[in-house]
Amino acid sequence: MIKLIKSIYREREMKKALSRFVAKTKRLSFGKECQDFEKKFAEYQERKRCLFFNSGSSANLALVQALLNLGKLKKGDKVGFSAVTWSTNVMPLIQLGLKPVAVDVELETLNVSSETFRETLKKHKLSAFFVTNVLGFCGDIAEIAELCREKDIALLEDNCEALGSVYEGKKLGNFGLASTFSFYIGHHMSTIEGGAVCTDDKKLAEMLAIVRAHGWDRNLQPDEQKKRRSRFKNSDFYSQYTFYDLGYNLRPTEVQGFLGKMQMKLLPEIIKKREKNFQKMAKAIHNRYDLYYPLRFEHMDLVSNFAVPVVCRSKKIKEKLIQKCKGVIEIRPIVGGNMLKQPFYRKYSDDKTSLPSADLIHENGLYFGNNPELTENEIKKIIGVFTSI
Ligand SMILES: Cc1ncc(COP(=O)(O)O)c(C=O)c1O
Repeated sequence: MIKLIKSIYREREMKKALSRFVAKTKRLSFGKECQDFEKKFAEYQERKRCLFFNSGSSANLALVQALLNLGKLKKGDKVGFSAVTWSTNVMPLIQLGLKPVAVDVELETLNVSSETFRETLKKHKLSAFFVTNVLGFCGDIAEIAELCREKDIALLEDNCEALGSVYEGKKLGNFGLASTFSFYIGHHMSTIEGGAVCTDDKKLAEMLAIVRAHGWDRNLQPDEQKKRRSRFKNSDFYSQYTFYDLGYNLRPTEVQGFLGKMQMKLLPEIIKKREKNFQKMAKAIHNRYDLYYPLRFEHMDLVSNFAVPVVCRSKKIKEKLIQKCKGVIEIRPIVGGNMLKQPFYRKYSDDKTSLPSADLIHENGLYFGNNPELTENEIKKIIGVFTSI
C-alpha cells in the first residue's frame, strides 16, 4: 500500500536527535528553540516576523482573533474564503462572529482566480479575503492582491498546503497582509503538529503573540513589552498576570521548535524531491484528458505540494479509481471539497452561493500522496493505476 503519509522526512535521524535533545534540555515549554525556529522560518519565507503555533488550525484562529482585537475586522463583517479549502480555515470566521462568503474556484487550478473573485465582489462587500492556496497551486494571486488593495480588503493567505510554491518570482504566502502554515506530519515539513503565521506588520505580530498566550505580553519583544507596560502604567509585578486582550493558549513546545529547526535544514531538499515527483506524475497522468479535466500550473515557477489531485471526467471514472486503489494506493477527497456541502457549514451559515467548479471538484475529485520518500517503483505504480482505467 502506498500511503498518503510515510513519515516525518528522515524520521529515524529526527527521533535520535530528538531523544538526545529531550534528555539534555532544561526546558520543554515554549522557549529558545521555538524562537530560533521562528527567526529561521521568517528568513526562509522572506517575511519580517513569524509566530510559531501548535497547529495550522491554531494559526488560522489566532490570525482572525488578532485582526478582531486590532479592530481591523468587526463582528458581522463579511469575509471571503476559497470554496475548496479545509474546515479550520472557515471555522474561525463562524466561531468569531464574522460572515463567511464562499468564493468559487477555477476547475483548472482548483484555486480562486481574479475572475471568480470579481464575481463575488459584485454581490458582497468584503472586509477580508482568506484565500487558500490549495494543494500547492494558485490562480492569478498577484491580480487578486491588487484587487484587494484597490478595495481595501485585507488579504490573508492560508498557505498550509503550499509552503515553498512560487508564483511570479514570489513565494506563496507573501501576497497579503499575513499567511498561515501547517507543520502537521503529512505536510511539507513536520513538527508532528505545528503551524505558523508570517507577516511584515509589527502591530499584527505583536497582537498574535498576545493571542497565542492567554492575552498576556510575555512573548513580545522587550521594546514592545516596555511600551505596552508604560502605556497601561503597569508595574513589572502586575505585568506578570496582566491580560491585555482576548487570547487562548496555542503555544507549541520546545520539542516542536527543535524539530522545526532540524526540518528547516532539509526543507529545500524536501521541496525539490516533491517537485520532481509531482512533475513526473503530472506529466504522465494529467495529459489523459479523456479521463481527467486538465490541470493548469505552467503559470507557476514552482509547485510545492504534498498530494496530487485529479478531477475525473465522470463519477464512473472516480468510482473505478476508488476500486482500483483499494489496498494499493491511499486516496482522499480533494481537501474538504466544496465547503458549502459540509454539515458544519450548512448548520451555521445561510450562504447559498452557487459554486459549479467547487461542486465538480467535490463530486469527481480525489488525490494521492506525494512525499519525498516515494520510490521509483511506487511512482511507476501510481502512474500505472491512474492511466490504465
Ligand atoms: C488549507 C488548510 N488550512 C489549515 C489546515 C490545518 O492545519 P493543521 O492540521 O496543522 O491544524 C489544513 C490541514 O491540513 C489545511 O489543509
